[in-house]
Amino acid sequence: MISITIDGKEIKLEKPVTVLEAARSAGIKIPTLCWHEQLERYGGCRLCLVEVEKIPRLQTACTLMVADGMVVKTETEQIANVRRGILEFLLINHPLDCPVCDKAGECELQDLVEKYGPAKGRYKEKKRKVPESLEDPIIVRNMERCIMCTRCVRMCEGVQGASAIDVIGRGGHSHIEPFSGGKYDCEYCGNCISVCPVGAIMSRLHRHSFRPWQMVNETETICPYCGVGCTLIVQVRDDVIKRVVPRIGSVVNNGLLCTRGRFGYEFVGNEERLTEPLIKKNGVFEKSTWEEAISLVAKKLSEIKEKYGAPAITGIASPRCTNEDNYVFQKFMRTVIGTNNIDSTARTGYAGAQRFIENIFGQGATANIIPGLSNSDLVFVIGGDPTTVNPILGLQIRACSRNGGSILTIGNFKGLEYFSPQKLTPVLYTEDVLLEGIVTALKNKKGLSDANPKLEAKIKDISTSIEDVKNICKIEEKDFNEFLNILSESTNPSIVIGKETTQSNGASYKLLLLSAINYLINGRIYLLSDRANEQGLLDMGCAPDMLPGYMPVSHPESRKKCEGAWKTAAPEKKGLAIFEMIDSARNGSLKAMYIMGENPVFNLPDSGNVESALKNIGFLVVQDIFMTETAKLADVVFPALSWAEKDGTFTNMERRIQRLRKAVNGNGMEDWRIISEIAKNMGRKFDYSNAEDIFNEICRVSPLHKGLTYED
Ligand code: FES
Repeated sequence: MISITIDGKEIKLEKPVTVLEAARSAGIKIPTLCWHEQLERYGGCRLCLVEVEKIPRLQTACTLMVADGMVVKTETEQIANVRRGILEFLLINHPLDCPVCDKAGECELQDLVEKYGPAKGRYKEKKRKVPESLEDPIIVRNMERCIMCTRCVRMCEGVQGASAIDVIGRGGHSHIEPFSGGKYDCEYCGNCISVCPVGAIMSRLHRHSFRPWQMVNETETICPYCGVGCTLIVQVRDDVIKRVVPRIGSVVNNGLLCTRGRFGYEFVGNEERLTEPLIKKNGVFEKSTWEEAISLVAKKLSEIKEKYGAPAITGIASPRCTNEDNYVFQKFMRTVIGTNNIDSTARTGYAGAQRFIENIFGQGATANIIPGLSNSDLVFVIGGDPTTVNPILGLQIRACSRNGGSILTIGNFKGLEYFSPQKLTPVLYTEDVLLEGIVTALKNKKGLSDANPKLEAKIKDISTSIEDVKNICKIEEKDFNEFLNILSESTNPSIVIGKETTQSNGASYKLLLLSAINYLINGRIYLLSDRANEQGLLDMGCAPDMLPGYMPVSHPESRKKCEGAWKTAAPEKKGLAIFEMIDSARNGSLKAMYIMGENPVFNLPDSGNVESALKNIGFLVVQDIFMTETAKLADVVFPALSWAEKDGTFTNMERRIQRLRKAVNGNGMEDWRIISEIAKNMGRKFDYSNAEDIFNEICRVSPLHKGLTYED
């Protein structure tokens, strides 16, 4: 144990930390400007100077490591004088434009000057003039306000790995500029905005539209964009989202956001949002009341069921809707309609790949902790650029490289370009040959251990020589061998697989080969997921053969478990998968389709074909927040609520169940509530008063969710 005394308080520490960290751990606040908990220590601003007994000069607390017996004072007259002097220096050039600066109220410099002074500046010279840069559509730079703490530069280079900005010029002319000149040429993560302590780098989206103290309504929720599930804070004024910021310490993203999460909130208040139910009459949508639209849908579905039977009706669920929405939807299809005809667009990549890999390695095989990537000694990427599909996960791969790990890629991924990837780029359509070559070489090098006989039986006869790889894939032997050596020598490897592989021709075989590689190097697999609740959708049983918690529909005990909670029989026969639904629509055997929060015309391959198939369905119902390509084809459209307007849960790619919280009011209805109302009109009791009621039922039905509570 190390024992130190700060401001008379004795602090015991288990490991050496900086004086600043030791003070913070004891609740003692030392002022800082260039220090930030997400960044490398810098020691540039000197605001954190402290007195240390037996050391003649003041020391920077953010860089000084503690030593046993150290005695530190953080607030003395001498320190206050020095801090006042430093602030006076900063104010030589920093403008006193707080009344018009958007940062006022949350500006760290403003707070420090208020505490330490100076009340007046002694410098008569003119402040430097740097015109504000408005060249960029999203980020505004006001370099007159910059205090050269370089937090933005260190964030951009050391954490985000974009290296898009740096300090340009010397002395009083120093300022931060993108390498590309006035306009940013970067990933627009906006993490530079998060760490700027003053108003030098700010978002243009909310400029001059609020003061920080007016943001009394803050809601912590989950990002709606991808399967990473970043925590974010939605700041609201007058029921309008004004800003989205991250939270330091949040488990998944720890204070970082990507461009979609940070800047992609304006759609919530878009004037093109659907606000009222619409019924198509003579080919034209007419506004209707909720009662009319709900009773029409209930009546039509009952008639179709009566006339053609339940299998003539299908449902498509949504990876953008909450667990509760999806659970209620599959329950509606199974118990009210009476069919397992429920599926989603996740089938086209994520769902199929996950099922395949879990069949080999067991349930949960792809549910790996995202920060685990940065601790890997090797990350092998195939099938998509993780820095664009799942940007915060991509940062963990960059961190792996910075920590000394190796990055191997099959294909070129721009976001990993500067992280020394060892690349193999086979000619088109020969990826499987290259993977076979890798499996063959790894088998020869490592041998099979009999630990997974089923998988070994499938790969034991694979034999693709280096000659084949050279001739067919057009890859140099030297490059292949280097790649292979790194792969085979790794001790803590991860494999990241994207949709370009899981959705490609021969995806199953490629997944088998990737599973074999994973097996032979003893790694873990991450499946990229580009929709927020793709995992939750599957967990909820939105599949034609699986009930909630992956209980097979064919299994009597599984159905019994659901029937206990649902108080009605669950259908036994496997339903139609999404492409079978499209085929049945085309051949006329499908009479009705209910689509919740999905746009198959846009999101399924061959959109022309999908569109003509959907036009062939007698009765189409769509719930969405915008008039999508699919909604335009519908007979009835219900306006749903967006992610920011409802409560519920999402499950991320790690299988972490996270709370979504309502931040603003919307004009639609929660997806689960619309479906519940239709169910009631069809004579079934779907009596949920809120998302928590539904979550509690999920926990009773799904073995995966057993014992969980909504507030966890
Ligand atoms: Fe320590 Fe800036 S915070 S030198």
